[in-house]
Amino acid sequence: MSDYKKFTQANREAWNEAMPYHQKANADKWDKAFATPGFSAIREPAVALISELNIQGQKIAHLCCNNGVELMSLKNMGAGECVGFDISDQAIQEAQERADRFGIPCEFVQFDIYNISEKYHNKFDIVYISIGCLGWMPAIGRFFGKVAELLNESGELFIHESHPFSEMLPADNLENVDPLKIIEPYFKKEPYIDNDGIDYIGKTTYKSKTMYWFVWTLSDIIMGIIENGLKLRHFSEYPDDISTLHLKNQEMGPDIPLSYILIAEKE
Ligand SMILES: C[S@@+](CC[C@H](N)C(=O)[O-])C[C@H]1O[C@@H](n2cnc3c(N)ncnc32)[C@H](O)[C@@H]1O
Repeated sequence: MSDYKKFTQANREAWNEAMPYHQKANADKWDKAFATPGFSAIREPAVALISELNIQGQKIAHLCCNNGVELMSLKNMGAGECVGFDISDQAIQEAQERADRFGIPCEFVQFDIYNISEKYHNKFDIVYISIGCLGWMPAIGRFFGKVAELLNESGELFIHESHPFSEMLPADNLENVDPLKIIEPYFKKEPYIDNDGIDYIGKTTYKSKTMYWFVWTLSDIIMGIIENGLKLRHFSEYPDDISTLHLKNQEMGPDIPLSYILIAEKE
């Protein structure tokens, strides 16, 4: 078993275990939402920047697509062929079922990102990544190598992620700690090893399977992109918490960087 696989397989099991909790909390909500034709779950500031990418008819890959609601939204916004990739069998099943039920033509396939088959190489105009993907990746350079393989010539990478700065601050569930106190390092070589569950949606607490979370600095991310032949085209930072783990930081201020959007182009 490769070094990556030890981590990604454990995370696969943890995500399969977590999905029923997420589904209990939000499956009905998404079913109701997609009953409205053209529904989109994607909000500003992402919408404006996605519009600039001009996604009409474009082939889009969503990496770490989870239950597929964002990819279905992109399809509803006019995208062409849409393929979602996720390691969780349960997430892929939910995504494909809902897309089929609402007649939104998206393909969802179970893959560890590192092992996405060559069939999908040089195929996509846009690779889309959103909140909560990069931290599950044990090797960030190789991850962006896969992004570069998936993109066709002059294809674009779009990332809307939580800001690495927020990794240093206490999450909202840590009580009796100043939300602005730096309690974790920015430069962290080893992953966090966690058994505390990932039901950040329904907030059920449970003793979970072991999972591994990696902290990547902004320089890790930017260099990973550049070193794989992608050219940085846009980078913006926001005081908005898109993780729902740092709402106290967002609400109590001062404004600090909690999320970012990055766009890069294959050269
Ligand atoms: C926080 S969720 C992403 C949520 C998504 N942005 C959304 O809002 O729906 C993280 C996802 O990454 C997936 N994941 C974790 N490691 C992965 C890997 N190595 N390859 C593919 N997917 C992975 C998990 O299964 C999970 O569905």
